[in-house]
Amino acid sequence: MKTAHIALLCAVATLANGQMLPVPEGQSTSWNSSFKFSPEQVKLGQLSPGFATSLEVILNFDRTQLANGGPSQDIFYNLTEGSSNIPPHAPGQVLKVEHVTNPVSYNIPAKTALSRIIYSSTNLNGTLIPASAYVLWPYKPKQFGLHSKGEPCRAPPKAKAPVVLWTHGTAGFYADAAPSTHRSLFYGDIIPFTLAQAGYAVIATDYAGLGVETSWDGSFVPHQYGAREANAGDALNALRAVRTTFSDRITDNYVVVGHSQGGSVSWGISEVLAKDDQQYYDVEKGHLGTLTFSPGINVLPQHPQFFLPWVGKFLSGVYPTFKLSDWLTPLGVSRTKLLTQVQGGQYFSELLFSNATEVVNPDWNSSYYADVFSKLANPGNRPYKGPMLIIQGTADPAALYNITLATYDSTCKTYPGDLELMTVPGAGHFPAMDASRQVWLKWIEDRFEGRPVESKGCVKSALESFLPVEQYQEVTQSFFQWSGAPSWFAQLPVGSY
Ligand SMILES: *[C@@H]1O[C@H](CO)[C@@H](O)[C@H](O)[C@H]1NC(C)=O
Ligand SMILES: *[C@@H]1O[C@H](CO)[C@@H](O)[C@H](O)[C@H]1NC(C)=O
Ligand SMILES: *[C@@H]1O[C@H](CO)[C@@H](O)[C@H](O)[C@H]1NC(C)=O
Ligand SMILES: *[C@@H]1O[C@H](CO)[C@@H](O)[C@H](O)[C@H]1NC(C)=O
Ligand SMILES: *[C@@H]1O[C@H](CO)[C@@H](O)[C@H](O)[C@H]1NC(C)=O
Ligand SMILES: *[C@@H]1O[C@H](CO)[C@@H](O)[C@H](O)[C@H]1NC(C)=O
Repeated sequence: MKTAHIALLCAVATLANGQMLPVPEGQSTSWNSSFKFSPEQVKLGQLSPGFATSLEVILNFDRTQLANGGPSQDIFYNLTEGSSNIPPHAPGQVLKVEHVTNPVSYNIPAKTALSRIIYSSTNLNGTLIPASAYVLWPYKPKQFGLHSKGEPCRAPPKAKAPVVLWTHGTAGFYADAAPSTHRSLFYGDIIPFTLAQAGYAVIATDYAGLGVETSWDGSFVPHQYGAREANAGDALNALRAVRTTFSDRITDNYVVVGHSQGGSVSWGISEVLAKDDQQYYDVEKGHLGTLTFSPGINVLPQHPQFFLPWVGKFLSGVYPTFKLSDWLTPLGVSRTKLLTQVQGGQYFSELLFSNATEVVNPDWNSSYYADVFSKLANPGNRPYKGPMLIIQGTADPAALYNITLATYDSTCKTYPGDLELMTVPGAGHFPAMDASRQVWLKWIEDRFEGRPVESKGCVKSALESFLPVEQYQEVTQSFFQWSGAPSWFAQLPVGSY
């Protein structure tokens, strides 16, 4: 009420100054894209007219979510202009920096700021490749340890923002799926906005292949979906590059947070940091702990119609004897080509491949590549650098609770450590993060405050709901819509003030 009242006063004031309010207009959710499949593409994918229309709806919506038209139009993602250190000679080198990203075509919250960076990382076979990342900055950094151990309050040194290294879940498989190009940074309020508004600098890799699609030598950069260590390297190399660029602004200490695909990556980061190979010695020390939400484990047999194309499309670049037709039918192979042509994202591809009978080769698990990939992808059953908190909904249809539990149990048995599994009864894949927000914000805070974990060793816990679980909204029914054009200001809940 109060906000509406102020807005009204302002509007009157504007009119009293003799200025006109912009003429309000309606807005579609696909206002910035009008893609239609070509006849060749319809033929390639064997798309019936209704199916083609449904896929176009998703694509036009997804493309409308891309700030500045996305990587194909946004010169930031093109290494030809404004980059240095090319070719790089090591992973984690800064190739391009956009200190201040123009926030005007993003949905980031008021009084947060964005930077973007391109840096070197390595793919599965150790080849240097470019990758992009964003940093979402708080208005005021959260401060820790100012009143510790009864010491008198001293004037704090110039504040540095505490770092959360965020590894996102499945957005897609091509340049357009990079969170740094998504108006709401893809996870919006669920993770990055919440963290920045709580005072953290959120450092978030896109993962190689999302964002920058062409390397300095002109070669295509595939996204190695699910390759835990490669994706973990993308995150740790982003941290290195951001440290180089913004050393005076961020703490050396950091907490890792990841969900789903990124949950396997965050767990993978803890595993990579526990290795003796010294590959990431420079960033190991600042690691304070890892939060893993709903990690993707043993994904291939659960939804082969989705995961086989997502993985198979890059695997022949790693194993030259692998053929996509080992896993997919001829239609599955041609739909994967179509997916590549249009850079379809997660939901688009789930619809495109929804009929498993049509796309999956029933013999997919007779070649040994399924198990080769599972070893690359699955976290767990290895040493890890703790402490780690795994938060998992019991009703998660995408990352199954019993699989997380089984991996947790076997890991704890062989490698006991500070590893907690917290379940969220009745919660699905994303809502588990919403329900547990207080818990994980406190967990991150405790790590920066240097407090020991509340329960040492391998422990299981459950987050009890205040009201009976069935009273709660199950999943969100809304999304952020960019309404930054003056004719759309009327749609903003708080006007344009
Ligand atoms: C809409 O897309 C075009 C390119 O297709 C891009 O140049 C423009 O910046 C986009 N508009 C906004 C507000 O992001
Ligand atoms: C990058 O920009 C240059 C011009 O500056 C252009 O020639 C080149 O085609 C662009 N590369 C890509 C991959 O878009
Ligand atoms: C390494 O990966 C890149 C990109 O996937 C590929 O082009 C290259 O041939 C691979 N190199 C080796 C030695 O396998
Ligand atoms: C899936 O494809 C098969 C083979 O074309 C077809 O018989 C079946 O009806 C399809 N299923 C659905 C749900 O469309
Ligand atoms: C493939 O089949 C073997 C034998 O049945 C099984 O042990 C393995 O888990 C399967 N691999 C995947 C990725 O499902
Ligand atoms: C997990 O539960 C599903 C469905 O209830 C079942 O099909 C699957 O075999 C279970 N997996 C494990 C590892 O227990």
